[in-house]
Amino acid sequence: MQPITVRPEAREDIRAIDVVHISAFGGEAEARLISALRASASFNRELSLVAELGGRIVGHVLLTRVPLRKGGKEKHVLALGPMSVVPSQSHRGIGSELIQASVRLAQEKGYGSIVVLGHPEYYKRFGFVQAKDLQVTCNLPAPEDALTVLEVEPGNLSGGGHVEYPEPFVALY
Ligand SMILES: CC(C)(COP(=O)(O)OP(=O)(O)OC[C@H]1O[C@@H](n2cnc3c(N)ncnc32)[C@H](O)[C@@H]1OP(=O)(O)O)[C@@H](O)C(=O)NCCC(=O)NCCS
Repeated sequence: MQPITVRPEAREDIRAIDVVHISAFGGEAEARLISALRASASFNRELSLVAELGGRIVGHVLLTRVPLRKGGKEKHVLALGPMSVVPSQSHRGIGSELIQASVRLAQEKGYGSIVVLGHPEYYKRFGFVQAKDLQVTCNLPAPEDALTVLEVEPGNLSGGGHVEYPEPFVALY
């Protein structure tokens, strides 16, 4: 298999990223969410990673800086998602590469934790644990088990907290 390259998105990748999400999710909701985030203050191109295979974009993951509040204190963590890989290239480790690259990026940028709303079984293998076990909650009305967290910096979530996803995510849920 040709090597997979993971890199930050470029302006000219936007259409290809949409195609990845529409084909993987079978609908436009996630592509619309990403468009709404791109138009918001929450978006940071450096936190939007594409996976390239043979010069073609076959996967994408968006990371968003979100506040985690506990009592009167606030810090920021990264929310991972939406993430997808085109169906024709799934089960080849591309999703895993995107998650590993996300963890490295969080470390480089000094974020202590990553939260993700998604299939908990998928994220478990990368060290994500149930958010409820660390007393972490969020403002989206998703099933509690779907929220998982990874402490990139051990102990970063001690004491728990409440993650506030920005408005475009709230509109999707
Ligand atoms: C989930 C997704 C990103 C995985 O990408 P990928 O490149 O196939 O992932 P990898 O090759 O690294 O890992 C594949 C493994 O993930 C696991 N997996 C895939 N989808 C899963 C799911 N929905 N729940 C639990 N495990 C899942 C399987 O065990 C699979 O193992 P296998 O190849 O032995 O069958 C991709 O299938 C996808 O885009 N799905 C549709 C969109 C989506 O659900 N995104 C994630 C939202 S949380």
